[in-house]
Amino acid sequence: MISRLATSLAHRLPAEAAHRLAIWAMSYGLVPTSANQGLANQGFANQHTASRLDQDCLGLRFSNPLGLAAGFDKNAEAMAGAFRLGFGYVEVGTITPKPQSGNPKPRVFRLSSDAAVINRYGFNNDGAEQAKTRLSKWRKTSAGQRHILGVNIGANKDSLDRIADYAATSAILSPYADYITVNVSSPNTPGLRDMQTPSILAEIMAAVKSGLDRAHLPVLIKLAPDMNEADFLAVLERLPDMGASGVILTNTTISRPDSLTSPNKDQQGGLSGAPLLLSSTQWLALARSRLPKHIPLIGVGGIDNAAAAYAKILAGANLIQLYTALALQGSHIIGEIIHGLDALLARDGVKHITDAVGQVTDAAEALKMSGRITDRISG
Ligand SMILES: Cc1cc2nc3c(=O)[nH]c(=O)nc-3n(C[C@H](O)[C@H](O)[C@H](O)COP(=O)(O)O)c2cc1C
Repeated sequence: MISRLATSLAHRLPAEAAHRLAIWAMSYGLVPTSANQGLANQGFANQHTASRLDQDCLGLRFSNPLGLAAGFDKNAEAMAGAFRLGFGYVEVGTITPKPQSGNPKPRVFRLSSDAAVINRYGFNNDGAEQAKTRLSKWRKTSAGQRHILGVNIGANKDSLDRIADYAATSAILSPYADYITVNVSSPNTPGLRDMQTPSILAEIMAAVKSGLDRAHLPVLIKLAPDMNEADFLAVLERLPDMGASGVILTNTTISRPDSLTSPNKDQQGGLSGAPLLLSSTQWLALARSRLPKHIPLIGVGGIDNAAAAYAKILAGANLIQLYTALALQGSHIIGEIIHGLDALLARDGVKHITDAVGQVTDAAEALKMSGRITDRISG
């Protein structure tokens, strides 16, 4: 209730101002308690339910599979609030070595009638040293010692050596991370996506790994949904050799499905939310069919309810993330998705989440089986 009210008030603000307000509130842990209470009221906290959703993945113990996707907490400020909302893990970033201001405003737009957002933020962030200060402080708290935190890293727009940027940021921040994500898939830094080739990714991975404080820290790669299939498969084929610990599928899309109706649909930038659900799940399913099972996948793109979360898992996601639905619907959805996912697994007689991973090879079929309403999705 409080979450819905706060969200409807926030929607009177421009999208970026609402985002900043949310970060401010979350940095002080000022989040509606409804999600937590909802979980407790609905029995989520009890042993029975927790045991269906918790799992070992990437050498870490996740209490539930739902994470906060990168881009929401770009500067590692909002972890306290995010974990209070019930997320099983949080990915901060994208963080670049040097601070940068990003693209001119306005640069983020709601597409309310499409349940979507377009952003062209352009990696606005305070830089790796500032993030280090915040993360080292947070890691000393009891929440910081308990929770799983990923750090998503990128390159500065004006960098002359982007590979060195990945190495520098991971060297500075890996001591505070449970995993690192190499982001080569944001559409708002010119040329970044061109680094999604096997040879460049292999160079980035080697550079990142050379700077890690712990040899076994997982390093994941986040890919775009706009690659052609042959290039995508070529990258997948080389991933095990490069030492990638997992893949995150997908980032936002530069495509514009015909189904979009919002006045903002032609804004430049990356589209996220419901219109990304089917295509991002298709890339996920394709990756699951090609990669060895020991390489986990994180499914992200258009998750806005428990059925969509379940569909990602059926299509091959070991873990899942969301961003846009939190911004558009409010924080109550976190508890609803986690509890609802548990209920869907129980409905289908699945004893543990890991038994559902990759059970359906076709993305559209996974969305149908999970019960995700298929209006507003497009290919
Ligand atoms: C406003 C906004 C900013 C984002 N910034 C980043 C970013 O800095 N790094 C990144 O890897 N992904 C970023 N993303 C992509 C999300 O992490 C996610 O991959 C994508 O939005 C699909 O998930 P969703 O449909 O649940 O939002 C951003 C998304 C949005 C909406």
